Amino acid sequence: MLVHVLFAAVLAVGSAQTPANTFPDGFLFGCATAAYQVEGAWNEDGKGESIWDHMLHEHPEYGNNGDNGDVTCDSYHKYKEDVQMLKAINADVYRFSISWSRILPTGDIDVINQPGIDYYNNLINELLDNGIQPVVTMYHWDLPQALQYLGGWPNGLIADYFVEYARVLFDNFGDRVKWWITFNEPGVFVSGYAEVGTAAPSQPAPGIGDYLAIHTLLRAHGRVYRLYDQQYRATQNGSVGITLNIQNIEPASNSTEDLEAVDRYMQFEDGIFAHPIFSEDGDYPAVVRQRVDANSEAEGRPRSRLPTFTQEEIEYLRGSADFFGLNHYRTYYAAAGETGPVPSKRRDSGAYTISSNENNPAGLRKILNWITAEYPGYPIFVTENGYGDSGGLNDTGRVEYLTNYLSALLEAINTDGVEVLGYTMWTLMDNMEWTSGFSIKMGLYEVDFDSVNKTRTPRLSAYAMSEIFESKQLPVLN
Ligand code: FCB
Repeated sequence: MLVHVLFAAVLAVGSAQTPANTFPDGFLFGCATAAYQVEGAWNEDGKGESIWDHMLHEHPEYGNNGDNGDVTCDSYHKYKEDVQMLKAINADVYRFSISWSRILPTGDIDVINQPGIDYYNNLINELLDNGIQPVVTMYHWDLPQALQYLGGWPNGLIADYFVEYARVLFDNFGDRVKWWITFNEPGVFVSGYAEVGTAAPSQPAPGIGDYLAIHTLLRAHGRVYRLYDQQYRATQNGSVGITLNIQNIEPASNSTEDLEAVDRYMQFEDGIFAHPIFSEDGDYPAVVRQRVDANSEAEGRPRSRLPTFTQEEIEYLRGSADFFGLNHYRTYYAAAGETGPVPSKRRDSGAYTISSNENNPAGLRKILNWITAEYPGYPIFVTENGYGDSGGLNDTGRVEYLTNYLSALLEAINTDGVEVLGYTMWTLMDNMEWTSGFSIKMGLYEVDFDSVNKTRTPRLSAYAMSEIFESKQLPVLN
């Protein structure tokens, strides 16, 4: 355990801990990262190009300062150091993602890249040797570019490729990986098919391509869950879920219109993914179906821009998760109104956000309760939550943010009775924050990107989390 003095200066730890300050037995603490953001080695040892490699090489202007993930934290070479950093903060779990094109450079199983398999085997074994369980995201936004040349997620066939990729993962790593997340934040990565320059592949067909992508990835998720059920669960005995980013939405005013806009916004952003998987009825939320169908008809289209599931698809998707992965960062304020291009998902929703607030821990508690009420019966794993700033080791803002959000999480568990399995904060170390590049710092460890060794240094927040992760208790604030 790291010894420190700074943390004690910020938070005075009370001697008599009450149960209200204590996380349940078996609660899992750790950190999250993603392959493109930390690995580097973008074309080493047979790795294929991903859509993020491709987009930021072709269009450096979409990024910050021309930043990209070519080298970033160099975790491909420094994973042993990363594991020691996790151990130093008493992490129970490490959530990382697998780069599809590092394992399958063509996206298909015609080429299985052994050095890629070796890398993840080494990482997994190193974690387990140090008493840390892997939580593995199969897809954190980095589609093999070879599959983008086939159209990427809007092409329904990509679901077949994803199922084959998942089979390779279960076959090679499933003996040791017990926590699987199919997709990270689909709501964000489908915007790569709706907008220019915000997310790869930047192939905009708003209100069409993003719905097609949603349809494909949901089918892919359901099929991978059923594959695990039928061929792996009995021997591997793990859990399979999906991670959605659900922010807390408050009405911009007290008007009935804005109050109604909150629910519509959430159904278009969150329910569109959660309802087919976690609701009792399955399928897309009624309000989404009805509004996109009506707009498509009014536009004179022969079909809805939102595809329809077959009955068989509805059935295999319904209940296709062992847990609900939640990424939560902040609160947004939503208003009623038609904004965004014609057509677009935003316009279909008839709602938009006007501002946000990152300092509202009560929002996390509210969302945990919302999920439990909307989709009862699924334990929640908080797979991301974290704080960005411009750097510095004395990150009191991050300590405060994390402690306050953990406190709200604990209230949801201990007072409201929400079942939460664990919490992997974002993020272990500063990394490549997508189109924001290296300008935003979110790590418990600072990374010196100018140094050859990509030197990692613990921040105040690393010491703070090491205490919480070890004691499974929150400090009592003075
Ligand atoms: C989430 C992403 C993650 C990271 C954090 C800050 O939306 O899943 O990769 O960028 O935001």
